[in-house]
Amino acid sequence: MPSRVRQRIRPGFERVLDRLVRFSNRPWIRHVPETARGFRFAGTLRSDAKPSGTAAEKTRLEAYFDAHTTGRGLWKWRHYFPIYERFFSGFVGQPVRFMEIGVYSGGSVQMWRDYFGPQSEIIGVDIEPACRAYEENGIQILIGDQGDPKFWSNILPHVGPLDIVLDDGGHRPDQQITTLEAVLPHIRPGGIYVCEDIHGIDNEFTQYLAGLVPHLNTVNQLPNKEAVTLDAIPVQRAHAVRSTDFQRTISGIHWYPFVAVIERSACPTEALVSPMHGTEWLDGGKFWSSAGLNPDWWTSSTDGRPPE
Ligand SMILES: C[S@@+](CC[C@H](N)C(=O)[O-])C[C@H]1O[C@@H](n2cnc3c(N)ncnc32)[C@H](O)[C@@H]1O
Repeated sequence: MPSRVRQRIRPGFERVLDRLVRFSNRPWIRHVPETARGFRFAGTLRSDAKPSGTAAEKTRLEAYFDAHTTGRGLWKWRHYFPIYERFFSGFVGQPVRFMEIGVYSGGSVQMWRDYFGPQSEIIGVDIEPACRAYEENGIQILIGDQGDPKFWSNILPHVGPLDIVLDDGGHRPDQQITTLEAVLPHIRPGGIYVCEDIHGIDNEFTQYLAGLVPHLNTVNQLPNKEAVTLDAIPVQRAHAVRSTDFQRTISGIHWYPFVAVIERSACPTEALVSPMHGTEWLDGGKFWSSAGLNPDWWTSSTDGRPPE
């Protein structure tokens, strides 16, 4: 190739190469081998669990579901009930604002009202106008397409902050993503977002959620060794990191078969602290350097909190 031509295409080629390198250096690309390894490991697990022969105690919701043999249609996977109970039971009897996307035949919105009690407000969302028929005391029905961001920007300022949002609507990943991004900022601190019916090993919504998870683990170091005051408590760099906006917004992401749960932080803290209590240490504090961590970062000092 003549050198003139080479010189002309070289800058473009280098720009492309540079972009490729920078792109492949992103955490979610760099760690594809670990993801692949986890994927393969999951396939090797074998269960030797035997059915116990005795039925597990039913949750209140499951008992409701089993007793509901006539009337408005109610359709749930049975293994969802303990998950609901784990995350929703703290809201029972409270003035909870609960939104379910996907009303279908009206049985589930009735179940939620019965479960949370007379102070609750249940908001059902469905694309099917006939679902309006399921409106009654304590149950409001809104008609719209969950996959349309405009629908959300129209209704969310009016439905107010929500305590719980349950997505059981169209089940398409693009709808689930649009819904999550629209509603999450409208969920109160301490509230819960649940998406159900995430089906399939190559589900795109699962991959989307997997993109959120690493942000829980950001280590946002304090800028210097000086003590700073976070959450009105003096902390030292050695044992504290400043929480990120994401960590202050989201306190946990949970996966179950076909279901994901996101918890909004109940009381966001400015710092994540890791105090060492006690005076006797096996290795004189060398553990962190032998583990390959920055010893400067972890040694000495306390966070100013008195031992419990
Ligand atoms: C699985 S059913 C809901 C079942 C109900 N939650 C229950 O537990 O019995 C799904 C519902 O989502 C509604 N739906 C489908 N696509 C939607 C969309 N794009 N926006 C809002 N609702 C949608 C359907 O009309 C249907 O009523």
